[in-house]
Amino acid sequence: MKILLFGGTGLLGTDIYEALKNEHQVKVLSSSDCDITKLENTYHKIKFEKPDIAINCAALTDVDRCEKEEDNAYKINAIGVKNIAISCRDFGVKLIHISTDYVFDGEKKEPYTEFDKPNPVNIYGRTKLAGEKFVKSILNNYIIIRTAWIFGKKRQHFVDYVISGIKNNEEIIAVKDMVSSPSYSSDVAGEIKNIITLNETGIFHIANKGYCSRAELAEEIIRLLKKPGNVKVVNQSQWLRPAKRPFFSALKNYHLHLLGIDNIPGWRDALKRYVRAKIEE
Ligand SMILES: NC(=O)c1ccc[n+]([C@@H]2O[C@H](COP(=O)([O-])OP(=O)(O)OC[C@H]3O[C@@H](n4cnc5c(N)ncnc54)[C@H](OP(=O)(O)O)[C@@H]3O)[C@@H](O)[C@H]2O)c1
Repeated sequence: MKILLFGGTGLLGTDIYEALKNEHQVKVLSSSDCDITKLENTYHKIKFEKPDIAINCAALTDVDRCEKEEDNAYKINAIGVKNIAISCRDFGVKLIHISTDYVFDGEKKEPYTEFDKPNPVNIYGRTKLAGEKFVKSILNNYIIIRTAWIFGKKRQHFVDYVISGIKNNEEIIAVKDMVSSPSYSSDVAGEIKNIITLNETGIFHIANKGYCSRAELAEEIIRLLKKPGNVKVVNQSQWLRPAKRPFFSALKNYHLHLLGIDNIPGWRDALKRYVRAKIEE
């Protein structure tokens, strides 16, 4: 199949490309190849490339930056998604759109399913939810994938921050009342590869199984590296950031489970493979 990958230069997009490249014809787009905030750009790209499927990983993902740059966040995460959806509709292209656990408010005490009601607590979450709504209202042939707390090789993230803190004997600040499902970008990409060949539609949660707090995640990395780590455990109220985070946004891959195809491993297994790969670098 011919696949157009918006945001293919990012953390998840890079591993989606790796997962798909041998079996599909994948064209990777960065923000300079196509700025999704401009309808004429996405329209022209999709018209010109004529893909079977468009995958959208393009987003403003810096949660604190979204809080400070609300217009920019809505332009990329909502209007940009609307532009892709309009273009997909007009040229009969299926859209696989990536969204987030941060559409939930974090008040639930067990992992969120696709049937739970979103209620975002920050601007990033609100803009991502607006993007989801555009996809659902413009298209019939779409899949929205919500994932969470991604780690992978393309760019820095919390797991790398902890690994580097351990290596350099620096203080590691880890929040204990922030809980979600840490997910390995290559595992998520592998599931995306499976799902695009199915004749499916709707919302799917795709995260490594289980959940933990940032503090537990840091402890697990220390255990895997077998080195001492200087972790300062704090509450969100002591970790002042522009954006509030949901306290509990773990995801359950319930839609995949109902279809009997939830084969993604647990987060500890995923983390172990990532840390091992990092050590061998
Ligand atoms: N990271 C996480 O922990 C996490 C968790 C849950 C859900 N998600 C979702 O997963 C998806 C991928 O996230 P990620 O962390 O892989 O992203 P990322 O590493 O921050 O990369 C963002 C991508 O979006 C592109 N982009 C930004 N602005 C754009 C614009 N105006 N036009 C076109 N492209 C633009 C960037 O292109 P350039 O390379 O040119 O800048 C880059 O390829 C997003 O939808 C995000 O909301 C991420």
